[in-house]
Amino acid sequence: MEYILFAILAYFLGSIPSALIVGKIGYKIDIREHGSGNLGATNTFRVLGFKAGIIVTFSDILKGTVATLLPLFSGADIYILAIGIFAVIGHTYPIFAKFKGGKAVATSAGIILGMYPLLFVIMITTFLITLYFSKYVSLSSMITGVVSVILSLFFKDIGLVIIISLLTAFVFYRHTENIKRIKNGTEPKIKWM
Ligand code: G3P
Repeated sequence: MEYILFAILAYFLGSIPSALIVGKIGYKIDIREHGSGNLGATNTFRVLGFKAGIIVTFSDILKGTVATLLPLFSGADIYILAIGIFAVIGHTYPIFAKFKGGKAVATSAGIILGMYPLLFVIMITTFLITLYFSKYVSLSSMITGVVSVILSLFFKDIGLVIIISLLTAFVFYRHTENIKRIKNGTEPKIKWM
């Protein structure tokens, strides 16, 4: 029963639209009307700049991390990870922003940070290296997802493998438009790295 409560709390937590809040309060801009229109960190960097992008990145990661802390370290890892997934669902389909949210990357990373900090560090390193060479945030996010699935195999925890695989599949699904743009050469590259 308490897991249902934590899952609902995690969904509401994930639903807090950081990019929308930072844009509206700090810049009087609704970022859904600019750039890719996505309520995520990448579009915040693109539309509002570095400071706002960093704030949204950390806020969105934190939503996933805090969700994993809701059960206060009690319960099996698989349950805590499953609660984290509800934060990702909230971030992606937020009740506070007409169910149109981000692409699941930062909040998924936050779950990993809360549960497996070493894996998180490897994932961030993978992401930054891929970003440095490709200049595509979307591609770097997807490659990091694939690498995290491979790395999860070393933890010998089938629950972790399943949940990271599900999250990665979801990240790919949310990047359908980005994949099309990468294929036809219209996906924007970052300019600051
Ligand atoms: O990984 C998230 C990000 O790459 C997608 O954002 O705004 O480029 O569609 P956007």
